[in-house]
Amino acid sequence: MAPTPTTLTAIAGEKTLQQSFVRDEDERPKVAYNQFSNEIPIISLSGIEEVDGRRAEICKKIVEACEDWGVFQIVDHGIDSKLISEMTSLAREFFALPPEEKLRFDMTGGKKGGFIVSSHLQGEAVQDWREIVTYFSYPVRHRDYSRWPDKPEGWRDVTKQYSDELMGLACKLLEVLSEAMGLEKEALTKACVDMDQKVVVNYYPKCPQPDLTLGLKRHTDPGTITLLLQDQVGGLQATRDGGKTWITVQPVEGAFVVNLGDHGHFLSNGRFKNADHQAVVNSNHSRLSIATFQNPAQEAIVYPLKVREGEKPILEEPITYTEMYKKKMSKDLELARLKKLAKEQ
Ligand code: SIN
Ligand code: FE2
Repeated sequence: MAPTPTTLTAIAGEKTLQQSFVRDEDERPKVAYNQFSNEIPIISLSGIEEVDGRRAEICKKIVEACEDWGVFQIVDHGIDSKLISEMTSLAREFFALPPEEKLRFDMTGGKKGGFIVSSHLQGEAVQDWREIVTYFSYPVRHRDYSRWPDKPEGWRDVTKQYSDELMGLACKLLEVLSEAMGLEKEALTKACVDMDQKVVVNYYPKCPQPDLTLGLKRHTDPGTITLLLQDQVGGLQATRDGGKTWITVQPVEGAFVVNLGDHGHFLSNGRFKNADHQAVVNSNHSRLSIATFQNPAQEAIVYPLKVREGEKPILEEPITYTEMYKKKMSKDLELARLKKLAKEQ
């Protein structure tokens, strides 16, 4: 068994990849990190407030993208480019700190927020090639500033501002999706009860053998909607045919990639897809991405808000978000267990 690294940055210079990161062949990347596709729609939000103007056209594009891919990119979203560049450069500075500084915020052992290396599901055999920092940012009463890195200086304040602004943007997008379901604007936000927000900053160091591993394994996000900021390196991949073909999302300066999660999928009765995605790494560049997850409260009820004529609800009964999440995790663990068994035979 390979020794557990203190940080990935510390082993990124090695010639071969440690065994704990090597994935089974069927999980390895099929498309290169920089083989970009423009299939994912890029939507300008300029004019989204003009009820008698561009709003209808923009909303139509968003809805089509959610029905088709469950993922799209937005530009002209109103988030200040200075805030975006401060957030990304401070994040890069954090990951460049010496291991002992980063490990001051180590969140192994179930701590709420902080730094972790190669987060992976409990019981999972293969590790992701990434380091992360997580901020629990909403509801505000959940903020535990002792778990928010205090270095580099100023990052806490920038993160606060960033998460506030992104909360506003996410709510705007949820309004569009609520209206598309024929519901009042606030329907999806209300279904979240007290909307939860978690910011996860991902750092993928250069990798010695990127073809054998993943930065982040294939998954759908559990929550309602995710806003992802990525740098210009590339590595986010999406599939809409169950993993037969993958595309690498073209990085667009200043854009957010918007992903629909499982909660959004269930509430729309499956009309909006929960985007199936993963992150690949490479040996030329390290990569940074910042995912802002907008999730329902733990006790929020998960059940379709709208069932269209001729359809049946895709859930047997209403469940809480906690139950939904537990079911998802146990299904993932069961699949991993079956896969392991099949390999051993
Ligand atoms: C994520 O799915 O949370 C991150 C994906 C990425 O880094 O591109
Ligand atoms: Fe994700």
